Amino acid sequence: MSTIKANDKSRNASLDKLIRAMLTDAFVSVQPLPQCPHISLYLVDPSTMDRPFTLDEIRRIWDHTAYWAFCWASGQVLARFILDNPHWVKGKKVLDFGAGSGVVAIAAMKAGAKHVIACDIDPQALISCQQNAELNQVKLTLSDDLFAIKDDDIDLLIAADVLYDRANLSFLDTFFKYAPQVLLADSRIKNFQHHHYQALEKIASFTVPDLDEFDEFRLVSLYEGRAEQATTVN
Ligand SMILES: C[S@@+](CC[C@H](N)C(=O)[O-])C[C@H]1O[C@@H](n2cnc3c(N)ncnc32)[C@H](O)[C@@H]1O
Repeated sequence: MSTIKANDKSRNASLDKLIRAMLTDAFVSVQPLPQCPHISLYLVDPSTMDRPFTLDEIRRIWDHTAYWAFCWASGQVLARFILDNPHWVKGKKVLDFGAGSGVVAIAAMKAGAKHVIACDIDPQALISCQQNAELNQVKLTLSDDLFAIKDDDIDLLIAADVLYDRANLSFLDTFFKYAPQVLLADSRIKNFQHHHYQALEKIASFTVPDLDEFDEFRLVSLYEGRAEQATTVN
């Protein structure tokens, strides 16, 4: 387990404590995103993932995956897309569903969004969002429950890499209760088709730190969803 030297701004003791539920010798460090170098995040230090794991450790990683300690390929792509195309968020109120580290929410604020709500079901992710927002000098509003959000003036819902859990497919319709427009990034579902969503583009990327995932998970598709294409959602 590594100790943190006084004044080491690349480390974060509170996030280190959280990530050790996944891997007892893991720690986080500040890492600039290769495809968005103006954003840096506290992510699991690559050195801690670069060794063989015991079966117990593998089980523990599965049971306690710290999703917030990675910037997923889809998150990196959606952040880059928003920074390159700020008109999607400029002056708007935005909701980031499944925010994880907060990467896409932070990109939206940097691209000129008026207000961004970062929503994640995992309380640790919200701590990570807060720490990463401070690191990048932006403000985010945090929510641990989509259904508790009562704002009726959200312009855009953004979501990156949330369909790895097939239970989340039902949210593709629910999103339109919260915003008339959705930007979705995904590399997990092959031949994604949904009549509310149309494909925008495909962009190659990778998770940070790099998990050496199969090529298919490194090709991210971006989709736009529009409420007017949607049938009524109850
Ligand atoms: C793979 S991570 C993606 C994080 C980030 N968007 C990115 O691309 O780096 C998925 C995140 O979605 C969150 N999540 C999954 N199901 C959720 C739900 N029903 N409501 C809110 N967040 C959810 C998880 O806790 C996790 O932080």
